[in-house]
Amino acid sequence: MLMKVLEERIRQEGSILSDTVLKVDSFLNHQVDTQLALEIGEQFAQIFANRGITKVITIEASGIQFAMATGIALKVPFIYAKKKKAVTLNEQVYTAPVYSFTKQETYQVCVSAKYLGPHDKVLIVDDFLATGAALVGLVDIVSVSGAELVGVGCVIEKSFQEGRSLLEKKGVEVHSLARIAAMSPGEVTFVRGEQT
Ligand code: G4P
Ligand code: NA
Ligand code: NA
Repeated sequence: MLMKVLEERIRQEGSILSDTVLKVDSFLNHQVDTQLALEIGEQFAQIFANRGITKVITIEASGIQFAMATGIALKVPFIYAKKKKAVTLNEQVYTAPVYSFTKQETYQVCVSAKYLGPHDKVLIVDDFLATGAALVGLVDIVSVSGAELVGVGCVIEKSFQEGRSLLEKKGVEVHSLARIAAMSPGEVTFVRGEQT
């Protein structure tokens, strides 16, 4: 089961930099285990099967490999929203401000209006669900475009942070493959029960 495989990789290869930051650079977001990424894509495609998804969307950079894998499995294109510092007012672009807690600055997430519209059914995919700031920005962009949001799929959710509840308050369906209840150096505890 993919969930178990992921939990084991996190336990064995993850390093916990603080009580809130998990480094998984050996297989998820610096070096990428390509086979695992494809399996993650297949899992999201299975979870969101028969929902009429026309597009997968993520934010650069480290959501890209999982959005691509999911797009391959669903046989639809994927879009990666771009991050820009400057606010460019352009009618052809949907933007949403995102506050980065790690960099302590606000950046704009941008998607060209050419590639997203009312005819689309969208699945958002990302590597981490943490504070939800970036994902809420993407949810807002999907909403402004007139597209229908089917749900959000995240590889790793840090359930002790507020991202999931922020998204659920907006009525968004969230599925995470590995859900971390708590972590400290040398120890990771996963949320038990309904996992996807
Ligand atoms: P999010 O929950 O909506 O992803 O937003 P948040 O603002 O909390 O996270 C900011 C960035 O930090 C995101 O990357 C997110 O994936 C990443 N991140 C959050 N927690 C962790 C963690 O514990 N470990 C690692 N490795 N990354 C974490 P991003 O904005 O998409 O940037 P990029 O790194 O993909 O370029
Ligand atoms: Na990310
Ligand atoms: Na990231």
